[in-house]
Amino acid sequence: MIKTIEKRVSVRTYQKKPLLKNDEKAVKDIIEELTDKKGPFGHSVRLFFYDSPYTGDEVQIQIGTYGFVKNPPAFVAGCVKNDFEGIVDYGYLFEKVILRLTQMNLGSVWLGGTFNREAFDYLLAEGEVVPAVTPVGYPAENRSIKEKVIRTAIKGDRRLPFETLFFENDIKTPLNKAHQIAKYLELVRIGPSASNKQPWRVIVKGNKVHFYLEKTKGYAENMPFDIQALDLGIAICHFELGLIEDQKTYAIVVDSDHPQVDQMKYIISFDCIKDHDLN
Ligand SMILES: Cc1cc2nc3c(=O)[nH]c(=O)nc-3n(C[C@H](O)[C@H](O)[C@H](O)COP(=O)(O)O)c2cc1C
Repeated sequence: MIKTIEKRVSVRTYQKKPLLKNDEKAVKDIIEELTDKKGPFGHSVRLFFYDSPYTGDEVQIQIGTYGFVKNPPAFVAGCVKNDFEGIVDYGYLFEKVILRLTQMNLGSVWLGGTFNREAFDYLLAEGEVVPAVTPVGYPAENRSIKEKVIRTAIKGDRRLPFETLFFENDIKTPLNKAHQIAKYLELVRIGPSASNKQPWRVIVKGNKVHFYLEKTKGYAENMPFDIQALDLGIAICHFELGLIEDQKTYAIVVDSDHPQVDQMKYIISFDCIKDHDLN
């Protein structure tokens, strides 16, 4: 999956053609498989597949992307309990969907803001939310002008430097890039985040890797949930997939002994149990 994480990119411009039957089936199988899985906080998500006519103009339930996405032939959407940990779990599980689509060379893009959220109200049980959806389809050869404008505006190709995101022992000491764990943190760094804000911060202490959220001040305050919790779920997903690929032994824990940091929300830790030489 490391190669897939490196390959993934947001796709907002699609070829004008429906999914082939075998691809559609494969997408539905992925959805079914991940609907049974749980995130690090124990929530599962309910996932749904939509294609025409929901993607067209004919019916009332329109997914609608306000013109940000061109020619989407189908969508995947899902819902989860609307609390912070539920949203982290959605980020974690939905990124697995995105990566599986990427593996199949299908295009996708996380849409947390620019879609018609009300269209999904009929799905929801009490206290649930649809945090994000993705179109699914065959990427067009060239990006639309609107997509190019978006990518430039949010600097979609750029990421913050390693040393401003990842630390050792405390939040003041940047982690050495030669540290054994750096390879997996790089998978966090290249991940997608809402408006490319990259709010993940990590402190490595001994064999533990602690994840934090540095909330972007004033960002997305009118959303019905904390959209940056999705970014943390994605980060946890990428980090873990790197460990799994290299057959590392680890446990995901809520560690009451994590370093305290002002202005940051502690999320969760990886205890890399067997890797005694992490330092
Ligand atoms: C939680 C989340 C929500 C997002 N919401 C939107 C959105 O509403 N509209 C959009 O065009 N892109 C959205 N994006 C895509 C990001 O802008 C994109 O991932 C980021 O700019 C980095 O570019 P890349 O994905 O091509 O690496 C979202 C991404 C994430 C992770």
